[in-house]
Amino acid sequence: SDIEKGTYPHYMLKEIDEQPFVMRRIIQKYQDENGQLTIAPEVVAEVVNADRLYIIACGTSYHAGLVGKQLIEKWAKIPVEVHVASEFSYNMPLLSEKPLFIYISQSGETADSRAVLVQTKKLGHKAITITNVPGSTLSREADYTLLLHAGPEIAVASTKAYTAQIAVLAILATAAAKAKGIALDFDLKKELGIIANVMEMLCDAKEEMEKIAREYLSTTRNCFFIGRAVDYYVCLEGALKLKEISYIQAEGFAGGELKHGTIALIEDGTPVVALSTQEHVNLSIRGNVKEVVARGANPCIISMRGLETDEDRYVIPAVHPMLTPLVSVVPLQLIAYYAALHRGCDVDKPRNLAKSVTVE
Ligand code: G6P
Repeated sequence: SDIEKGTYPHYMLKEIDEQPFVMRRIIQKYQDENGQLTIAPEVVAEVVNADRLYIIACGTSYHAGLVGKQLIEKWAKIPVEVHVASEFSYNMPLLSEKPLFIYISQSGETADSRAVLVQTKKLGHKAITITNVPGSTLSREADYTLLLHAGPEIAVASTKAYTAQIAVLAILATAAAKAKGIALDFDLKKELGIIANVMEMLCDAKEEMEKIAREYLSTTRNCFFIGRAVDYYVCLEGALKLKEISYIQAEGFAGGELKHGTIALIEDGTPVVALSTQEHVNLSIRGNVKEVVARGANPCIISMRGLETDEDRYVIPAVHPMLTPLVSVVPLQLIAYYAALHRGCDVDKPRNLAKSVTVE
């Protein structure tokens, strides 16, 4: 296994670095003979014939599902609900007349997700599995499979599978829009190509991310991530990464929700990572930063080119506004990695966690 890791000290770092290649591989694997991004027509037909999509997943895959919901609703105009698998089983929502289930699972083996698949199949509903592992249980038991083509993910903390899941969901969303005759004013293939290049630049910013991790997270007990709109979902993932491998208590919050309770936790020096990649919420998230700074927080603003101010700690090159999670997550992955490293944690094999959880 040391051979597979090559010159990398950890699988996680290797897998973070592989993300630009995975983007390019996805473009290649999902294009038709004319070079157009495409999804098997029978899968697209199921999606556009459904009156509501139900995305079921756990952990990082759930966070990718939240981003996917935005893409599918905005581009293909199909309502989407996203559910944590373990809750869906026991707290099943009222289903629409023509539901379609989408299971997102890197491993394709997660017992909680499989339990829902068994349940919804029994009810006669069709299922698509989005997975990294061909032939996995969730792939075999669903009606259709969309593969991530991310290559084996060994580190327990998921990185390249998350960005691959979002890319595949984006392709599905544009394919469904096209099938419905909805014109989109961008070329996803081109945008994903730009994203691969930006991911490469972000992977080259390791020194800067290490500095941020050292400065903000070497000794802290906790850390908050705040964002609005799609940035909020990326904050959930950034916080999960940090929790999983550095054991720092970290939480992602919607910027506007802070004042309704969470702000009570802010003390002198509490690190608050604020993400701002969305023009329509740029001012309001910066307002939230002021609120926490007034209570003593140590802010680390990560913004996107075009929205930046002098106070920002890092600025990400601009990409398509709906696809920013594909790039804004990369600095958060790297910050989590270096925080864990500085604190002497076992990055690839964090305590109490398993790569795939095959018990309910
Ligand atoms: C485990 C892993 C997480 C992962 C989750 C879902 O808890 O530790 O990193 O996100 O399972 O895994 P899946 O393979 O279904 O995406």
